[in-house]
Amino acid sequence: MFDLAEVGPCGKVDLERPDSLFINNLLEMTKQKIAVLVLAAGLGTRMKSARPKVLHPLAGRPIIGHVMDTLAGIDPDRTVVVIGAEMEAVAKAVAPHTCVVQEPRLGTGHAVLAAREALGEFDGDVLIAFGDTPLVSAETLSALISARRAGEGAAEGAAVAVLGFRPADPGAYGRLILAPDGSLKAIVEARDASPEERAVDLCNSGVMAVDGRRLFGLLDRVGNDNAKGEYYLTDLVHLARGDGLRCVQMEAPAEELLGINSRADLAVAEAVVQTRLRARAMAEGVTLIDPTTVHFSHDTRLGRDVTVAPFVVFGPGVTVGDGVEIHAFSHIEKAAIEAGARVGPFARLRPGAAIGRNAHIGNFVEIKNAAVEAGAKVNHLTYIGDARVGAGANIGAGTITCNYDGFFKDHTDIGAGAFIGSNTALVAPVTVGDGAIIGAGSVITKEVAADALAVTRSEQRQLSGWARSFRKRKQALKDALASKAKRKA
Ligand code: UD1
Ligand code: CA
Repeated sequence: MFDLAEVGPCGKVDLERPDSLFINNLLEMTKQKIAVLVLAAGLGTRMKSARPKVLHPLAGRPIIGHVMDTLAGIDPDRTVVVIGAEMEAVAKAVAPHTCVVQEPRLGTGHAVLAAREALGEFDGDVLIAFGDTPLVSAETLSALISARRAGEGAAEGAAVAVLGFRPADPGAYGRLILAPDGSLKAIVEARDASPEERAVDLCNSGVMAVDGRRLFGLLDRVGNDNAKGEYYLTDLVHLARGDGLRCVQMEAPAEELLGINSRADLAVAEAVVQTRLRARAMAEGVTLIDPTTVHFSHDTRLGRDVTVAPFVVFGPGVTVGDGVEIHAFSHIEKAAIEAGARVGPFARLRPGAAIGRNAHIGNFVEIKNAAVEAGAKVNHLTYIGDARVGAGANIGAGTITCNYDGFFKDHTDIGAGAFIGSNTALVAPVTVGDGAIIGAGSVITKEVAADALAVTRSEQRQLSGWARSFRKRKQALKDALASKAKRKA
């Protein structure tokens, strides 16, 4: 009934008695509950921004969106996000998860206390994460929870397991102070640390797993007698130790634990995420000719054998089918490109662009809220907005759909196999039937029937020899003026 792989790290399996596996699993399943607390009430003053720090975008979605997504990966039973007053936008970003408001903000320990009621009676693992630390992986979080449960052999596991890391510059991070047996003795904030403690390079990432049965009993005893006058969550560790409980630390790669406090940190985090997204694209069969110049969104979906040339930017919501070629300097957002299509160079696909199989979108072409159906070609200097371009149609250079009259947007429908001559203005709402041809330079305001020719330009006139006599007249006038000026001088 149960897969061995599902047995948690504490599951004691008696191989002599197969039924014990079942019982152990049941126990595991009832007791191994996980609640997640995300602290995000901080003002993020160092961002110097009108917007809450955790809403700044990273790979096309808010910083906290990355945190929430990773946390979903460990399948928590409850999730509570601690936000500050006037942070409705953050609550919206993390919906439908429960938010509690911490007001005033008196430190990380105080923030966890603000979630007490929302969390309710909870005797499983409480995983505490920071809204501004978005690069941590679900694997690392699961390993931390396992480390707490195992507690390095302590009978009931550790009271607290802290995720540690060694950043290039330990700076203002809290330091993890270890006991001689390697267990975690205390966390000391940089401002409160002695010179010896500050010399420690193992730092507190802020992420910790706490035994839910102990959490609030310990927190109630946390004081604020420290450099910042705040209630530090980190004080849990020495309090737990004082009660004879075990605390442990688990070290994770520094790259995962960068906390974003400034715009500079945000840029570093963006670089990390982009490197990951590029690596993933290539691992899945995408050619990136110059990977470091391509920018992805967290949700970019690329098929196999897609080739992306240098300097291409993917905004959110882009799907690309197999074998698509995207040429240099294209900018694509909320768009779908089907298999075999060619886009760019210098193409702009805006929200609602749907490019069909084997269609071609060429240079200096902008497509918005429009379907360009299979095999259609829009190759040069064109704007197609609020429109359908039927299969196999050919849109000449400089064609513009005039979709906006300053008040309303209207639709242009171009039938399959239609041919739109260069420099045509299609004044919406307007329909061009299947197989119709529009003469170059036309302004189309009325329906064009299938297979018809429509031309609106005025008739061409010709005056034989006119250009030659024009030049002769003008040259004579210019010469006369020049000699007059000479005589005067
Ligand atoms: C904290 C840790 C430090 C650790 C560092 C890692 C404490 C006391 N210090 O310091 O050991 O090395 O993170 O990045 O925990 N928050 C609230 N309410 C508050 C205060 C903070 O929700 O009253 C939230 C913030 O939004 C943020 C997180 O808690 O997401 C951390 O707060 P921050 O002020 O950035 O703590 P640090 O000084 O960086
Ligand atoms: Ca911080």
